[in-house]
Amino acid sequence: MRCVLIVLMISFCLLSANTLQAETSMPDKETCRSYMEMFCTRCHKAERICKVLGTKSEQQWGATIKKMGDYGEMDEKTRQTIYSCLSPLPADDPLVCAK
Ligand code: HEC
Repeated sequence: MRCVLIVLMISFCLLSANTLQAETSMPDKETCRSYMEMFCTRCHKAERICKVLGTKSEQQWGATIKKMGDYGEMDEKTRQTIYSCLSPLPADDPLVCAK
Protein backbone atom coordinates (compact mmCIF):
# COMPACT_ATOMS: atom_id res chain seq x y z
CA MET A 1 0.00 0.00 0.00
CA ARG A 2 2.73 2.42 0.99
CA CYS A 3 4.56 1.51 -2.17
CA VAL A 4 1.59 2.53 -4.30
CA LEU A 5 1.55 5.90 -2.57
CA ILE A 6 5.22 6.50 -3.32
CA VAL A 7 4.76 5.59 -6.95
CA LEU A 8 1.84 7.99 -7.15
CA MET A 9 3.89 10.77 -5.62
CA ILE A 10 6.77 10.23 -8.01
CA SER A 11 4.48 10.30 -11.04
CA PHE A 12 2.91 13.47 -9.74
CA CYS A 13 6.34 15.12 -9.42
CA LEU A 14 7.30 14.06 -12.92
CA LEU A 15 4.02 15.39 -14.28
CA SER A 16 4.41 18.81 -12.70
CA ALA A 17 8.01 19.05 -13.85
CA ASN A 18 6.85 18.43 -17.41
CA THR A 19 4.18 21.12 -17.26
CA LEU A 20 6.69 23.62 -15.94
CA GLN A 21 9.04 22.88 -18.78
CA ALA A 22 6.29 23.35 -21.35
CA GLU A 23 5.52 26.75 -19.86
CA THR A 24 9.09 27.99 -19.85
CA SER A 25 9.61 27.00 -23.50
CA MET A 26 6.78 29.35 -24.53
CA PRO A 27 8.15 32.81 -25.27
CA ASP A 28 6.96 35.44 -22.78
CA LYS A 29 5.00 38.54 -23.78
CA GLU A 30 7.97 40.88 -23.72
CA THR A 31 9.96 38.57 -25.99
CA CYS A 32 7.02 38.34 -28.40
CA ARG A 33 6.56 42.08 -28.45
CA SER A 34 10.19 42.81 -29.19
CA TYR A 35 10.28 40.15 -31.92
CA MET A 36 7.26 41.77 -33.59
CA GLU A 37 9.01 45.12 -33.47
CA MET A 38 12.29 43.81 -34.76
CA PHE A 39 11.01 41.48 -37.45
CA CYS A 40 7.43 42.25 -38.45
CA THR A 41 6.37 45.85 -38.05
CA ARG A 42 9.29 47.28 -39.97
CA CYS A 43 7.45 46.37 -43.18
CA HIS A 44 3.82 46.77 -42.26
CA LYS A 45 1.73 47.80 -39.27
CA ALA A 46 0.87 45.37 -36.48
CA GLU A 47 -2.70 46.02 -37.57
CA ARG A 48 -2.12 43.71 -40.50
CA ILE A 49 -1.21 40.90 -38.11
CA CYS A 50 -3.98 41.87 -35.69
CA LYS A 51 -6.58 41.44 -38.42
CA VAL A 52 -5.78 37.76 -38.96
CA LEU A 53 -5.47 36.70 -35.30
CA GLY A 54 -7.78 33.81 -34.55
CA THR A 55 -8.53 33.19 -38.24
CA LYS A 56 -5.65 30.88 -39.21
CA SER A 57 -5.08 27.20 -38.56
CA GLU A 58 -1.64 26.18 -37.29
CA GLN A 59 -0.81 25.15 -40.82
CA GLN A 60 -1.83 28.52 -42.23
CA TRP A 61 0.26 30.28 -39.59
CA GLY A 62 3.18 28.11 -40.62
CA ALA A 63 2.74 29.21 -44.22
CA THR A 64 2.42 32.90 -43.31
CA ILE A 65 5.47 32.86 -41.06
CA LYS A 66 7.44 31.06 -43.73
CA LYS A 67 6.47 33.65 -46.34
CA MET A 68 7.22 36.60 -44.04
CA GLY A 69 10.40 34.89 -42.88
CA ASP A 70 11.52 34.66 -46.50
CA TYR A 71 10.64 38.31 -47.15
CA GLY A 72 12.56 39.42 -44.08
CA GLU A 73 15.33 36.80 -44.17
CA MET A 74 14.64 35.49 -40.67
CA ASP A 75 16.48 32.47 -39.32
CA GLU A 76 14.73 29.27 -38.24
CA LYS A 77 14.83 30.10 -34.53
CA THR A 78 13.26 33.49 -35.08
CA ARG A 79 10.49 31.94 -37.17
CA GLN A 80 9.82 29.34 -34.47
CA THR A 81 9.60 31.99 -31.77
CA ILE A 82 7.23 34.16 -33.76
CA TYR A 83 5.11 31.16 -34.68
CA SER A 84 4.81 30.19 -31.00
CA CYS A 85 3.90 33.76 -30.16
CA LEU A 86 1.22 34.31 -32.78
CA SER A 87 -0.46 31.02 -33.60
CA PRO A 88 -2.20 30.59 -30.18
CA LEU A 89 -3.49 34.17 -29.94
CA PRO A 90 -7.24 34.80 -30.12
CA ALA A 91 -8.76 37.59 -32.25
CA ASP A 92 -7.97 41.12 -31.04
CA ASP A 93 -5.34 40.00 -28.53
CA PRO A 94 -3.76 43.16 -27.05
CA LEU A 95 -0.28 41.70 -27.46
CA VAL A 96 -0.56 42.52 -31.16
CA CYS A 97 -3.58 44.79 -31.37
CA ALA A 98 -2.91 47.27 -28.56
CA LYS A 99 -1.76 50.64 -29.81
C1 HEC B 1 10.29 42.39 -45.74
C2 HEC B 1 8.97 42.92 -45.43
C3 HEC B 1 8.06 42.13 -44.50
C4 HEC B 1 8.36 41.62 -43.26
C5 HEC B 1 9.68 41.67 -42.53
C6 HEC B 1 7.13 41.04 -42.75
N1 HEC B 1 6.13 41.17 -43.65
FE1 HEC B 1 4.19 40.52 -43.42
N2 HEC B 1 3.75 41.21 -45.29
C7 HEC B 1 4.64 41.83 -46.15
C8 HEC B 1 3.96 42.09 -47.41
C9 HEC B 1 4.61 42.76 -48.64
C10 HEC B 1 2.64 41.62 -47.27
C11 HEC B 1 1.49 41.62 -48.31
C12 HEC B 1 1.72 40.67 -49.44
C13 HEC B 1 1.62 39.22 -49.06
O1 HEC B 1 0.71 38.79 -48.32
O2 HEC B 1 2.52 38.46 -49.47
C14 HEC B 1 2.53 41.09 -45.91
C15 HEC B 1 1.38 40.53 -45.39
C16 HEC B 1 1.25 40.01 -44.12
C17 HEC B 1 0.04 39.42 -43.59
C18 HEC B 1 -1.33 39.32 -44.26
C19 HEC B 1 -1.33 38.19 -45.26
C20 HEC B 1 -1.49 36.83 -44.62
O3 HEC B 1 -0.82 35.88 -45.11
O4 HEC B 1 -2.25 36.66 -43.65
C21 HEC B 1 0.35 38.99 -42.32
C22 HEC B 1 -0.56 38.30 -41.33
C23 HEC B 1 1.75 39.30 -42.08
N3 HEC B 1 2.26 39.91 -43.19
C24 HEC B 1 2.42 39.00 -40.91
C25 HEC B 1 3.77 39.22 -40.72
C26 HEC B 1 4.51 38.79 -39.55
C27 HEC B 1 3.92 38.04 -38.37
C28 HEC B 1 5.80 39.20 -39.71
C29 HEC B 1 6.97 38.98 -38.75
C30 HEC B 1 7.40 37.60 -38.66
C31 HEC B 1 5.89 39.88 -41.00
N4 HEC B 1 4.64 39.86 -41.58
C32 HEC B 1 7.04 40.42 -41.50
C33 HEC B 1 5.95 42.17 -45.89
C34 HEC B 1 6.65 41.83 -44.74
